[in-house]
Amino acid sequence: MREIAVFGGSSHPELTAEICAHLRVPQRPVLLKRFANDCLEVQLQSNCRERDVFIIQSLVRPVQENLVELLLMADAARGASAARVNAVIPHYAYARSDKKDAPRISIGGRLVADLLVTAGVDRVLTLNLHSPQVHGFFSVPVDHLHALRELAGHFRQRDLSNAVVVSPDLGYAKSAAAFARRLGLPVAAGAKERVSDSEVHITAIIGDVAGHDVIILDDEISRGTTVFELLDRLREQGARSIAVACTHGLFADNALDKLAASDVTEIVCTNTAPLEAEHPKLTVLSVAPALAEAIRRIHDGESVSSLFDH
Ligand code: R5P
Repeated sequence: MREIAVFGGSSHPELTAEICAHLRVPQRPVLLKRFANDCLEVQLQSNCRERDVFIIQSLVRPVQENLVELLLMADAARGASAARVNAVIPHYAYARSDKKDAPRISIGGRLVADLLVTAGVDRVLTLNLHSPQVHGFFSVPVDHLHALRELAGHFRQRDLSNAVVVSPDLGYAKSAAAFARRLGLPVAAGAKERVSDSEVHITAIIGDVAGHDVIILDDEISRGTTVFELLDRLREQGARSIAVACTHGLFADNALDKLAASDVTEIVCTNTAPLEAEHPKLTVLSVAPALAEAIRRIHDGESVSSLFDH
């Protein structure tokens, strides 16, 4: 069996440390230098030769810096004769750029996938891509996990006798339905149209929410534009209470404070992105045990899907 070697980029050191603790392996040191001309240099400070190398880097703010760092680390591992280079990307930022919905734009999700493979990545482990077809952008194997088990485990501790799960859009309704199935709940979905990064319209909600305790489920909360629009529709339709859950709590533009100041009962996300702020209404669930178990299975050649199937 080849030795496992786990390195972490600088995007989310706490998550890397937690994953290594679950795996019971040391985190290998990395030296990052920035030259006067603003270029980066990464040195992996532990032997990679014939090792099964895992590089953990979440593509969170500053996304471009973290992406280049990941590319340099993958290239360094390949150049150091790693047996296999695995990129562990808890949050894959460019996934929302998955279609050409305006003239002369790039499909960033596809481009970044190509860059990773060009840099030497042999395999990707990620969580809750914005849409399932982003998986197909990669020409190398991808293990695509979700956090429904963690999120459902949290909500099982609540009184769900009157609850309904609501997806903000039809695109995420399938995942919301899988989440609702885990909890034995009905599901509803918004008819959403995104106008710009800061403007969305939800014109209708398909399903019954009046008098119910709603759990909104989305893949990510960025500016919160989607959630705030959905909150308006849910209040109009007489929802009794509203909790909010997502995998990627990015909370740009002070979204956490704004959301916490609203009438939502709680906000639940995972730690795929580092969180600077805390709030009594916020619960952060760890995906480190799931990622560590997936890494172990990938390393040992065991099935990953059997663990994380919907
Ligand atoms: C987009 O379609 C996603 O599913 C999320 O709803 C979106 O990324 C959330 O972004 P924001 O919080 O800025 O509306």
